[in-house]
Amino acid sequence: MSINKLEDLRNRKAKIELGGGEKRIASQHEKGKLTARERINLLFDEGSFVELDAFIKHRCVNFGMEKVDSPGEGVVTGYGLVDGRLVYAYAQDFTVVGGSLGEMHAKKICKVQDLALKMGAPIVGMNDSGGARIQEGVDALSGYGDIFYRNTIASGVVPQISAIMGPCAGGAVYSPALTDFIFMVDKTSQMFITGPQVIKTVTGEEVSAEALGGAMTHNKTSGVAHFVTANDEACIGEIRRLLSFLPSNNMETAPVFYTEDDINKIIPELDEIVPENPNKPYDMKAIITAIADDSDFFEVQPYYAQNMITGFVRINGQSVGIIANQPKVLAGCLDINASDKAGRFIRTCDCFNIPILTLVDVPGFLPGTSQEYGGIIRHGAKMLYAYSEATVPLITLIVRKAYGGAYLAMSSKHLGADMVLAWPTAEIAVMGPEGAANIIFKNEIADSEDPQSTRNQKIDEYKGEFATPYKAAERGFVDDVIEPSATRPRIVDALNMLASKRESRPAKKHGNLPV
Ligand code: HXC
Repeated sequence: MSINKLEDLRNRKAKIELGGGEKRIASQHEKGKLTARERINLLFDEGSFVELDAFIKHRCVNFGMEKVDSPGEGVVTGYGLVDGRLVYAYAQDFTVVGGSLGEMHAKKICKVQDLALKMGAPIVGMNDSGGARIQEGVDALSGYGDIFYRNTIASGVVPQISAIMGPCAGGAVYSPALTDFIFMVDKTSQMFITGPQVIKTVTGEEVSAEALGGAMTHNKTSGVAHFVTANDEACIGEIRRLLSFLPSNNMETAPVFYTEDDINKIIPELDEIVPENPNKPYDMKAIITAIADDSDFFEVQPYYAQNMITGFVRINGQSVGIIANQPKVLAGCLDINASDKAGRFIRTCDCFNIPILTLVDVPGFLPGTSQEYGGIIRHGAKMLYAYSEATVPLITLIVRKAYGGAYLAMSSKHLGADMVLAWPTAEIAVMGPEGAANIIFKNEIADSEDPQSTRNQKIDEYKGEFATPYKAAERGFVDDVIEPSATRPRIVDALNMLASKRESRPAKKHGNLPV
């Protein structure tokens, strides 16, 4: 081959690699953001990334676009290895026409989506874009539609992870929203359907872009995002970590990483962790980390609906999804947001064959008009539905309160839990002793000479009779009451016993989750 042809190829590639040029790259860095290529290089194991479609060009001739060169078409796409496993990725390049999405930009993304689905490998999308390329009109819109469709078809087949690392506005937000997890970078990323200008025009409301759709807004208030990180490097590090908990596709199980942590470890502190006073809170995360290998807990949505804890641990090296009430926040009760958060996470674990460990300390559903008007019935039902349809191993540990409908909702035997363990501190009943005594002993209390002391006496009577795990254990709704200190070996044993679980459901097109 002539040296000229090789030089020509190298020059072409070098030009594409420079994206929008040095000035725009410098401007990207000044904003505290990495370039698309820097992000890609951080995501993949060193030297493993293979780029596809670097030569693709747009074919728009509207509004002067025929004169616009768009190296790489504003998005870097391809595949590589993450911890030695095949992963596909795309990273929008804000230095090229603002990372805007036109017909050919979308085609590049669709190609890696198709490959990820066919090969059964996760896909990571790094978003940094001005949205639909305005000059391309409906061609740009069609591109988004093609991506949304593929997001949906791949849902539950391969893990899809989105990182928002710059603007993500208009309908563009719906691709991340259709994926399994959304990361946002603090202060440099925003997601909104309509920006501050449009809002001001339409409703008169004034709001900054950050307050409207910044990382903390979506991590804390809306619950749209699952993770916030301080910068791009941390974001990509956390994506790699998340991938380590997930299988490559729905036909596989997550990779196993054994540690030195003793699976037979007895943890005496657990015998003391639940306070004597049932109204006193404690930190459920202390129980989670005590059970987990190396006390390592990767929390999902740590800022949203903090009365419900979700996340991943490894137990005996195996990836396990955690759903837990947090008595420290709203006494760990179930409300709309907690139900949505848990329901979604249960389904994420179930579609990717990750066993679920549910830790229960729940006084009930949160009462009140705001909850009823907001549709707690519909939202709570999502959680019941998610547990009932789940076919992965379901292990439940009742730590303290498990009252009423919330007892049922938190992975009870009745919804399909395979192994229900309880600590001796468990209280399983229709309602709390105070409320129960007031109702069933109403007349006795009213007619007594000293109603207050009779009331206390009746509360104690009810507590002794019902606020224990033993009534439920007598019926077989609790498989065993265990010593708290022995929890880790018992969970390890249950996971081993359930490893071969196979459960099928009646054939149907799909269920009708109360969305
Ligand atoms: C074409 C775009 C573009 C777009 C940015 N650019 N967005 N080109 N279509 N959507 C270009 C700019 O013209 C500029 O080109 C370069 O990208 C960088 O943009 P700047 O504005 O200089 O950057 P910055 O100041 O950082 O502002 C970023 C921004 C702003 C906030 C994202 O660019 C912006 O508001 N863009 C438009 C956002 C928008 O309304 N998009 C459509 C949303 S509707 P030069 O050549 O000057 O460097 C939508 C519908 C999707 O997306 C529906 C799907 C169903």
